Amino acid sequence: MNDPAQFVADALVRLRAEVPGKAIVAASGGIDSTVAALLTERALGERARAIFVDTGLLREKEVDRVSDLFRQAGLRFEVVTAADRFFATLEGVGDPEEKRRRIGAAFIRLFEAEAERFGTDRLVQGTIAPDWIESGGALRDTIKTHHNVGGVPADSKLRLVEPLRDLYKDEVRAVARELGIPSPDRQPFPGPGLAVRVAGPVTPDRIRRVRVANAVVEEEIDRAVAERAMRPPWQYFAVLLPGLTVGVQGDNRVHGEAVSVRVVDSVDAMTATAAELPRPVAQRIAERITRSLHGEVVRVLYDVTDKPPATIEWE
Ligand code: XMP
Repeated sequence: MNDPAQFVADALVRLRAEVPGKAIVAASGGIDSTVAALLTERALGERARAIFVDTGLLREKEVDRVSDLFRQAGLRFEVVTAADRFFATLEGVGDPEEKRRRIGAAFIRLFEAEAERFGTDRLVQGTIAPDWIESGGALRDTIKTHHNVGGVPADSKLRLVEPLRDLYKDEVRAVARELGIPSPDRQPFPGPGLAVRVAGPVTPDRIRRVRVANAVVEEEIDRAVAERAMRPPWQYFAVLLPGLTVGVQGDNRVHGEAVSVRVVDSVDAMTATAAELPRPVAQRIAERITRSLHGEVVRVLYDVTDKPPATIEWE
């Protein structure tokens, strides 16, 4: 893509050709699907409907933040609340790929129902190039099944429309600026949400813990960036680790969980380097997480691995 304005003009023509009737859009509040949703609304007007799913696996205050963003961007949207369904399908599942498959399948079933309600079989998604490349589209081995690619069963009635499938993240951000989407440089958040940020089993309690820890990481790093103590990283978050570790509480030993803090720099998410976290920031993050989750999380680690050999997310 050379020129974002030209990309937008071409995308509108293609969308109108691909969608003769109505379409729903899977809108997560992330930059990719927000761009896809706005393009679709521009192309189809009232024949488009963006659907935002509250999976119960979202970050703190995310439903409000995303709703505000969509309102500011002038997008028509509906919020569907489905936390119970997602927790039920994830019960007892610890394998990362199985989590992604089940979440993908739950999204598809939900969108099938929403599409039927809206009177269409077209689902627009914000899939971008790394999503399908890393899901096995161009590489021999699947690195990860990105939920927006792996979860579409062959027998689904839905017909996918993917207006951004040839773009990389920096190009999507350029298109977002062209469309006037507020803060297009905000960090990516995976479609399967906090489920892939708790290593091992997903329970409402473990999601609550990683949500609290993640909010601390985001707040402290946003503050450090505002105070110019560090450059804005590409992505920064908390991961809840599997297994228990020993801590002390007063005179007693306690068993609690451990959190890993991940802060990376990247250009297109295909490769990444672990960022340098100023020691005082790291210390404050560790203090606040162990205080906010007293007795539940007793240890905080910092992940210094680049991609490759690791990936950005833990799962
Ligand atoms: P990894 O962990 O594969 O992540 O190095 C690369 C980038 O993609 C994001 N990510 C996802 N985004 N659906 C998405 O829309 C997914 O299933 C998914 N998994 C990872 C990740 O946050 C990072 O920015």
